[in-house]
Amino acid sequence: MSENKRDVKNSLLFECAWEVANKVGGIYTVIKTKVPVTVSEYGDRYCLIGPLSYKTAPMEVEQQEPKDPHLASTLESMRNVGVKALYGRWLIEGAPHVLLFDTGSQYSRLDEWKGDLWNLAGIPTPPNDHETNETIVFGYIVAWFLGEYVARQLGTAVVAHFHEWQAGLAIPLLRKRHVDVTTVFTTHATLLGRYLCAGSVDFYNNLQYFDVDHEAGKRGIYHRYCIERSSAHCADVFTTVSHITAYEAEHLLKRKPDGVLPNGLNVVKFQAMHEFQNLHATAKSKINEFVRGHFYGHYDFDLDNTLYFFTAGRYEYRNKGVDMFIEALARLNYRLKRSNSKTTVVAFIIMPAATHSYTIEALKGQAVVKQLRDTVSEIQNRLGTRLFEHAIRSNGDHATLPAPEKFLSEEDKVLLKRRIFALKRNALPPITTHNMADDANDPILNQIRRVQLFNSEADRVKIVFHPDFLNSSNPILGLDYEEFVRGCHLGVFPSYYEPWGYTPAECTMGIPSITTNLSGFGCFMQDLIERPQDEGCYIVDRRSQSVEDTVNQLTDNMFTFSNKTRRQRINQRNRVERLSPLLDWKNLGIEYSKARQLALRRAYPDSFYGVSGLEGEDEEFDFGMERMMPNSVPASPRFRMSGIATPGDIGTLTEEMQALGTSDYRGQAWGLTEEDEEEGYPFPLV
Ligand code: UDP
Ligand code: G6P
Ligand code: GLC
Repeated sequence: MSENKRDVKNSLLFECAWEVANKVGGIYTVIKTKVPVTVSEYGDRYCLIGPLSYKTAPMEVEQQEPKDPHLASTLESMRNVGVKALYGRWLIEGAPHVLLFDTGSQYSRLDEWKGDLWNLAGIPTPPNDHETNETIVFGYIVAWFLGEYVARQLGTAVVAHFHEWQAGLAIPLLRKRHVDVTTVFTTHATLLGRYLCAGSVDFYNNLQYFDVDHEAGKRGIYHRYCIERSSAHCADVFTTVSHITAYEAEHLLKRKPDGVLPNGLNVVKFQAMHEFQNLHATAKSKINEFVRGHFYGHYDFDLDNTLYFFTAGRYEYRNKGVDMFIEALARLNYRLKRSNSKTTVVAFIIMPAATHSYTIEALKGQAVVKQLRDTVSEIQNRLGTRLFEHAIRSNGDHATLPAPEKFLSEEDKVLLKRRIFALKRNALPPITTHNMADDANDPILNQIRRVQLFNSEADRVKIVFHPDFLNSSNPILGLDYEEFVRGCHLGVFPSYYEPWGYTPAECTMGIPSITTNLSGFGCFMQDLIERPQDEGCYIVDRRSQSVEDTVNQLTDNMFTFSNKTRRQRINQRNRVERLSPLLDWKNLGIEYSKARQLALRRAYPDSFYGVSGLEGEDEEFDFGMERMMPNSVPASPRFRMSGIATPGDIGTLTEEMQALGTSDYRGQAWGLTEEDEEEGYPFPLV
């Protein structure tokens, strides 16, 4: 570190992730939704760094010239040697500065940098791993940028916060080069965790026994694992998103995280309950429209008695619990049939897979229904005109009402018949909306085939697999994801591996959901609320019971939900909505502030404790935001911690966490003796 004393109170913040202005999954959601609260703390001292995608950047970013002269000159010098970058404002709420680097502009240096990485850190890299190549080029550019920047800008401390291994490589580089920045690394999963869970490993019971190098090598990800591990070890502060992932990271990455930074939401406040209830009704009517088209010819169920369930996310079949979802749907189907239920459940699976666009059948379904609707409106207009003409010609004394059938002309009847005939269909309504690239081997389709949920008339549970993320401009199911969620009745996310799980968290904005006690979000809610299920947040146990029992529990939850009355569903939506303040970034953002402060303290201890170690010892920073107690917390909050607690305290980022025993990871203890519990982790250590 330099001799120069940097100002630590007005530090600058660079936050770097592969998903900045580049949507892949939940990390994009973290970054994007957190921006307003970070901007309110840092203002113009905040800049995000990400990769430049020419496909999406023009829509996401407004180009600008940097006002900071050091930043401008750094970029200028990099541009002079061929680095292409886009600087400007990211067009999202909070409009933060953003700097996107074009990795393609520096691929010519890939081999040189790979050699350097080997010499510097002993990290090997195979030739044809595109993702790793991107990581290397991006990491080297970012480290280069930060190195040059702090060599020019000497007055202020710089916090560089990195998310996930794809953005983490700059951390070991900065450390080896002794660049005067302080770093935070937040991991949103571990590579090994994801890979091990996707196979058929009893992950949680064996976490501490895995031979990590061997396991990584076996899966061909040793080099990636090295990048992740060195990012975690070289960072001044290492954090993750939940206690369950902290536990995992300690064993798989061999560094105990300094703390947990739970993921928040940008909560929209409604003046009155009926506002978001109305949004549900409007969004549901759009889904109804899709369902009419998709099930044409077999549309023999009552939409007023139909419930929409869904699961969504990146296509990780086992990790996201899709296997379990489909199995439980089959059992739900059986139970609904057996109880002669009049309810129909349409279950959507929204998970991007390789496809060749929409199926003709799916497009045709929407088209025939639209034609029918257009024809009916035309006839309706003509009929209205005739009715009006007839009425106006009748005078008061000789008022006659025409026979209704007279109003439908022969031409109208023919037209209507043609449209009705077009609704005939020989095959059952399709499961997928798209042509799958590998239909025969697709795990979701195979599981549906196995349980034989083929959308037949007798089935009370129908399935629609939409193998793409949603978008309001899609010709089929043309809704944005958020709107779709609101229009559904229940989100189902029975994940096996889920460091956080935004999808169930987002449901708290208005609909009930089911998640598991293996998801970071599920554990977080279990920690905060005494009886989450009463608030519409169902948590299925995937830790301490057999798979069979878990599937039955999930089926029970769905079956009970299917039997609720409309009034009960409305009440439950109201209760769920009251949970959302618990997840508001206005409360959780403070954990990020703590992480940054810890990083600054570690890098510049003299600026905090004074040279003697006494002066200003307890000096605290103003985090620039108020910690608020949500005014609509549910009736059964569970604050187990001593003293005043806010949801943010679940994060428990403390400088002392390293020194503490492992028992400070929170979570429900399962099958542990008191002794075990004192030892440590909230999981069975069989
Ligand atoms: N999502 C989306 N469109 C969709 C389905 C999902 O934008 O059609 C988003 C969803 O809002 C959530 C993210 O994808 O924020 C998935 O994040 P999660 O943390 O659940 O899982 P990850 O993919 O990060 O493992
Ligand atoms: C909202 C609307 C009501 C509507 C209800 C349908 O609450 O405000 O007008 O009846 O949704 O609820 P459901 O659970 O049947 O979709
Ligand atoms: C990861 C995890 C997911 C989490 C997201 C954001 O992609 O898979 O569970 O919600 O990151 O932290």
